[in-house]
Amino acid sequence: MAETKTLSEQADALEFQRMQELGELMIYRSTINKLADGEWSDKTEFAMGPLKPSLMGEDPRLPKMPEKPTLIDFFKLRFGPSKQHLLQSAALARRNGLPEKMVLACLLHDVSVIAFFRPDHGYWGAQMLEPYVDEEVSWAIRMHQALRFFPDESVGYEYPEVYAKRFGEDYQVEPYIQRDYEIARNHKWYMSARQICLNDLYAFDPDTKVEIEDFEDVIGRHFRQPADGLGNDDSPAAHMWRTLRRPANAL
Ligand SMILES: [Fe+2]
Ligand SMILES: [Fe+2]
Repeated sequence: MAETKTLSEQADALEFQRMQELGELMIYRSTINKLADGEWSDKTEFAMGPLKPSLMGEDPRLPKMPEKPTLIDFFKLRFGPSKQHLLQSAALARRNGLPEKMVLACLLHDVSVIAFFRPDHGYWGAQMLEPYVDEEVSWAIRMHQALRFFPDESVGYEYPEVYAKRFGEDYQVEPYIQRDYEIARNHKWYMSARQICLNDLYAFDPDTKVEIEDFEDVIGRHFRQPADGLGNDDSPAAHMWRTLRRPANAL
């Protein structure tokens, strides 16, 4: 006779299948990762999952980070290859003669897409950076997300062709994007967020490789690097950098 499993055992088995084993350690996937893969179910009972030693601490699959990591360490050791988008946008901003503070804003404008979450990337990015940059910089990063969808002929900004291709010709923004656009439009820092859009490069030059070291001076002057290391500090965003450092920690 076939062995029958209780619902709870089935849930455990499923959880097991979904985990990777790393030597003796179990590596859990966060719900946000599962949801992003389209996985959702309420068909099983609540289960704690198998009680096995789990990853807590440095992730041996990822490049080792220094004890006290800097923003540049995160750029090099955690940001994916599309960081060239940030680097080339910042290089363009510099060529266009923007103030250093705005070069930094362009350098970090899509930090959430490159390193964290894509959805609502302007909002997440601003939150990650708020304790460490000028208020105008994080505000502009938050608001560039909404402004991207709205042309401004006075500065030569058109609706991005790539958006029409990606989201459809008749794509309508959601109400919160419309609302935040209107807030930004009437804000004293409107042009700062708009400058991010104007220097937001979609056409990359594959032959141009910009290095993060090119911006070491700008970062040094305009990013408040915590002495204890980014993520080891007690700022309201430190946990986001810790999560980026060790994204599969069990808790
Ligand atoms: Fe963006
Ligand atoms: Fe961008």
